[in-house]
Amino acid sequence: MEEVIKINGGKLLDGNIKVSGAKNATVALMPAAVLAYQPVKIAGLPDISDVDSLKEILQFLNVKVNELNESELIIDPSEMENKVLDIEAVGKLRASYYFMGALLGKYHKVVMRMPGGCHLGPRPINLHLKGFEALGAKVDDNGEFISITAEQLTGTRIYLDFASVGATINIIMAAVYAKGRTIIENAAREPEIIDCITMLNKMGAVIRGGGTSKIVIDGVERLGGCFHEIIPDRIEAGTYIILSAAMANHVCIENVIPYHLDSLISKLKEMGVNIVTALDHVDVYSSPSLSCVDITTQPYPGFATDLQSPLSALMTKAQGTSTILETIYPERFKACEQLEKMGATVKVDIPQAEITGSCQLHGCDVTATDLRCGAALVIAGLMADGTTTIHEIKHIDRGYQDIVSKLRNLGADIWREHID
Ligand code: EPU
Repeated sequence: MEEVIKINGGKLLDGNIKVSGAKNATVALMPAAVLAYQPVKIAGLPDISDVDSLKEILQFLNVKVNELNESELIIDPSEMENKVLDIEAVGKLRASYYFMGALLGKYHKVVMRMPGGCHLGPRPINLHLKGFEALGAKVDDNGEFISITAEQLTGTRIYLDFASVGATINIIMAAVYAKGRTIIENAAREPEIIDCITMLNKMGAVIRGGGTSKIVIDGVERLGGCFHEIIPDRIEAGTYIILSAAMANHVCIENVIPYHLDSLISKLKEMGVNIVTALDHVDVYSSPSLSCVDITTQPYPGFATDLQSPLSALMTKAQGTSTILETIYPERFKACEQLEKMGATVKVDIPQAEITGSCQLHGCDVTATDLRCGAALVIAGLMADGTTTIHEIKHIDRGYQDIVSKLRNLGADIWREHID
């Protein structure tokens, strides 16, 4: 038996939809909490399967995870043990690599199997490892397990060849207990990094420059507990804004920091989407016609690679030919193949794609090959005539809390079903 999502498309959407806490902040904050020696309380947690995998890893390390309710938990690392991370949960998500920085920072030693995550083409972690080495660690990678050890970690100046989100956060975590000052040049500037720095500073770390490309970390002796509320998920919000642009009569997307979505909102306005931003929500109204648009994915504050696939679904509706240049993950065009099955006119020439619009999509069987491809297929299914059946929905459940019930509340005809 396989669980699928089915959608009868063509329904106009109306109502309010609330965005959950940011997945890509959460997956860094949960490992970061183990750097403390006291309990850390985190609120605004999304109810997604990546969080379940991280809870499993924490519990394996003898960290107490006390769930207060669906969105709040206390992580208590006071009896934590640094064990070899060889459990299956490590392979279920990319972000398990944050235990490298956290355990190296706290214990000067980490041994773990390779992290998993969405297949978006090559996803090396050489910049993470170079950062650890610059701090004084020795890395041994036998293809199956990575072992990182250090006699002592000493602050230094690290230049990132690429403004990598994961490397920036991982180096910060390894450096919070290092001796002296660490400076990361060409650091990534994503809001999720700022959120992680905010929590670490509440725990007693001394980290300056979050949100800029130069981050300065002054090592401290010991981190304590704190309370932290996670920022809203800008990619989930962006997904709901895009699907509203496709199918809304009037949808209000709540719990949003619109500033985090400036690049998307500008592009949607360029397409002719009727969109109004407020302090913490965004209203999207039906738009009489949409025009084609060209996007280039870039590190924040540029156009997010994670919103490229969802936007490609909307591009099938716009007049003319839209283009996508993918500079972060050049092979991230699996959604285009699936959209083609639904009748889209798509030409992929890695790292670019062209989508010719004014096209009516038709429901059929499609596969969510990764998380954001899944989001694109949900949007496409809402736009298509007939029934769309989405397979491999475990990818969608990794990052979108209650997507089916949230969309049903807007009037979408969408449901989960077990099939043979
Ligand atoms: N890169 C390297 N070496 C490294 C690290 C990265 O060459 O050591 C390259 C990557 O191959 C890629 C680029 O640098 O070409 C960007 O990678 P980055 O490290 O910034 O990405 P990440 O930390 O692995 C996070 C998100 C992704 C999101 C990217 C880009 C998490 C857990 N994941 O990945 O989210 O696409 O940043 O913004 O935060 C998703 O949510 O669907 C997702 C894939």
